[in-house]
Amino acid sequence: MIAKKIEDALNQQVAAEFYSAYLYLSMSAFLESIDLPGFATWMRVQYQEEVSHAEKMFDHVIERDGRAAVRAWEAPPAEWKSVLDIFETAYAHEQKVTGLINDMVNLALSEKDHATYNFLQWFVNEQVEEEASAKAIVQQLKLLGDSKGGLFMIDRELGRRTFTPPAGSQ
Ligand code: FEO
Repeated sequence: MIAKKIEDALNQQVAAEFYSAYLYLSMSAFLESIDLPGFATWMRVQYQEEVSHAEKMFDHVIERDGRAAVRAWEAPPAEWKSVLDIFETAYAHEQKVTGLINDMVNLALSEKDHATYNFLQWFVNEQVEEEASAKAIVQQLKLLGDSKGGLFMIDRELGRRTFTPPAGSQ
């Protein structure tokens, strides 16, 4: 049986992961509206990843005989100044999520919940990847400056991204 404190933190993180999903879906809609379908596809895949993160947390609560909960989350922004602004926002957001995951790891340690501690290691590793991929696109966009041709090339490249469900998911 899972401790109430851990159950609450995991349920709160389910809502945070859904907020991330909504944020990236909103970014995808904005990118479609400025005719960058490849960037929009990349963000749509990011949205799918976040939903899978939320479900992974939700399933862990159930597996541990806890009470999974679905909570409200705020609406994300809908407008950004530029593509660079979007990816800088995404990068900063992932850094914030890393902080939330680290707080949960610390809580699992202090509550001596080794199963949740082990479970969270997947998220610790995932956050390294999440931050790195957002940062790489920020760097590419900065190098590009005002080059429309370069933007078109990156759009084509990012449009090839497809969603792969994380191991252990259905
Ligand atoms: Fe669920 Fe982007 O981390």
